[in-house]
Amino acid sequence: MITAYDYTSARLCDAAGFDILLVGDSLGMVQLGYTSTEKVTMNDMLHHCKAVSRTSSNAFLVGDMPFGSYLNVNDAVINACTLIKTGGMDAVKMEGGRRVASHIAASVDAGIPVMGHIGLTPQTATQLGGYKVQGRTAEAALALYEDAKILEEAGCFSVVLECVPEKVACVITENLRIPTIGIGAGRYTSGQVQVFHDVIGLYDRLQPKFSKRYANTAQTIRDALALHREDIEGRVFPDSSHCFKIKQFEFDSFCNMVSQPSIESQHQCYEELEVDKAKMDMDMKAVGLY
Ligand code: KIV
Repeated sequence: MITAYDYTSARLCDAAGFDILLVGDSLGMVQLGYTSTEKVTMNDMLHHCKAVSRTSSNAFLVGDMPFGSYLNVNDAVINACTLIKTGGMDAVKMEGGRRVASHIAASVDAGIPVMGHIGLTPQTATQLGGYKVQGRTAEAALALYEDAKILEEAGCFSVVLECVPEKVACVITENLRIPTIGIGAGRYTSGQVQVFHDVIGLYDRLQPKFSKRYANTAQTIRDALALHREDIEGRVFPDSSHCFKIKQFEFDSFCNMVSQPSIESQHQCYEELEVDKAKMDMDMKAVGLY
């Protein structure tokens, strides 16, 4: 599983063969520039879910329920329905263990596939004391184990384990019938999920310990944009291959209409002689083109 937030990135992930695309509320940080996911709204999610769903992707599409959209059972079912019907998702994901079990059970009962998410739950990270590894004491690990069991019982088809010690994630995975999907949960979960921007090196404000960068896309984009700007300033772009033409007689007659001497022959002459930019600018000014 990998996150995708728009049409273009979703197509790339789909083409790379990922089974599940997650329209994660991490979009609040990597797409909308927030410092956390709490501000993301249902409208934000719908906007991005719709874009991803337009890929007619082979992958299974999961949409995150944003913070505050499943405060009670009723809201959970209605908003989950909206992500499916309007957002075009195949399933939704909700953060939390026993606290949201009844919300998940009701949504599953309404026919909505739900993925759980326990361990570090970014929407309630403040309550957890920040972005910290969870389940590091025997009691905390047991609570996570129980939560995973409760989510399975509530009808989740899968559960994300985020920032959990590898050994704890392994025991949970071995004791569930549904698959676990790990992020910072080690090597033994059934599957793995990462944030698109972390994998391709597009978000350079943060590099989590649990992610691996396979490319430096941010640098590639910065280099390409700088080259493009230099080409424009140096008048290297556009060149004749990027230009549209007009038949000479149409152009002559247009020039007559605006009482302007035709500059076509002058253009050809400049191209052949490759006169320097300053002279060309000066002459263009002289014929009133600038
Ligand atoms: O929002 C997100 O990207 C997520 C993944 C990190 C699992 O929930």
